[in-house]
Amino acid sequence: MVQERSYTFKIAEDGIDPEMVPERTLYTGAQIPAIGLGTFGSDRFSGESIAAAVLGAAEVGYRHFDCAAVYGNEHLIGESLQAIMRGGVRREDLWITSKLWNDKHAPEDVIPACKQSLRDLKLDYLDLYLIHWPFRNYHRPGAAGTERDPNAKPYSHDEYMETWQQLERLVELGLVRHIGTSNMTIPKLKLLLRDARIKPACNEMELHPHFQQPELFNFCLENDILPIGFCPIGSPNRPDRDRTPEDTVDIEDPVIVEIAERLNVHPAVVCVKWAVQRGQVPIPFAVDREHYLANIACTVSEPLTDEDMEAIAKIDKNCRLIKGQVFLWEGARGWEDLWDPDGVIVDMR
Ligand SMILES: NC(=O)c1ccc[n+]([C@@H]2O[C@H](COP(=O)([O-])OP(=O)(O)OC[C@H]3O[C@@H](n4cnc5c(N)ncnc54)[C@H](OP(=O)(O)O)[C@@H]3O)[C@@H](O)[C@H]2O)c1
Repeated sequence: MVQERSYTFKIAEDGIDPEMVPERTLYTGAQIPAIGLGTFGSDRFSGESIAAAVLGAAEVGYRHFDCAAVYGNEHLIGESLQAIMRGGVRREDLWITSKLWNDKHAPEDVIPACKQSLRDLKLDYLDLYLIHWPFRNYHRPGAAGTERDPNAKPYSHDEYMETWQQLERLVELGLVRHIGTSNMTIPKLKLLLRDARIKPACNEMELHPHFQQPELFNFCLENDILPIGFCPIGSPNRPDRDRTPEDTVDIEDPVIVEIAERLNVHPAVVCVKWAVQRGQVPIPFAVDREHYLANIACTVSEPLTDEDMEAIAKIDKNCRLIKGQVFLWEGARGWEDLWDPDGVIVDMR
């Protein structure tokens, strides 16, 4: 596959013309494709299969890829990006995101961590670099849901700003075009907006029909921060540590299933279509070609009706799937404390 010299990149006959895929405009004026491919293997899919999906996805029209150092596959995805660019796709037509992992927040670690992602992805710059979680609390790759970092601490705004200032440096150094946040809450974002020299262009957040986060979503839009939606399909293959008996299943929701049957698509496609139409940028993961093709094809087909959109708005169940419990500190009441449920940052030092 990727490494074979004989491979030549080509646009698939059944693919979608990238020029047709909708885009969103950031506060800087830059444009980002309104759908991206997720690349987290959920501890189930190999890096090789994900790198192959990146290549296949580019062939069917994807130009936006959501990467992260902690996914452990950037070096393989870099091979695919090389093949895509050797095949004639210009760097400026790609949108590549990466993320700083929790154990690299110390100011002296940020620039080297970003440079490592750049080396692995074989790029000169990133379009977007995010702070993956607003905590320095460690999380071993593949950790069980019950694992805790004994040194875990609650949110510290001073520490977050130390890290953010290094992201600002990355912009000034030309290594990163935009910087952003992930897994944030409104009170944390308010402090960042108050203190940042370069404001976040995007906030990556969990968004799917059963978890619509209307307050945070609207806060982002009002502040010209583009919401990027992760787990857009409700992450049916997420790691076991991220499953609890209370979790609901978006793709089994009768409203989603009924629309899917009418449109003759998989319920996953309805979730993606709804996300694009609502205004967030979904980043569905898929290694199956039929799946990632269907997900991008739905961005250029007949929109959902107003009635469909209203019906989906009503099935929000406030069901957070990625609770983040492995990042909890001693003395925290439960995973809810990571998310500032009362609108006040919990235990901020
Ligand atoms: N910032 C963060 O903290 C954070 C957290 C979680 C995730 N993310 C990002 O968000 C991305 C997406 O989230 P996710 O991977 O957890 O979940 P997801 O995108 O909601 O769900 C992915 C699953 O849905 C299946 N699927 C995709 N398209 C389908 C279709 N058209 N028909 C049927 N099944 C379909 C895929 O199956 P196949 O693989 O079989 O195709 C895959 O197992 C991640 O890969 C990652 O890049 C970021």
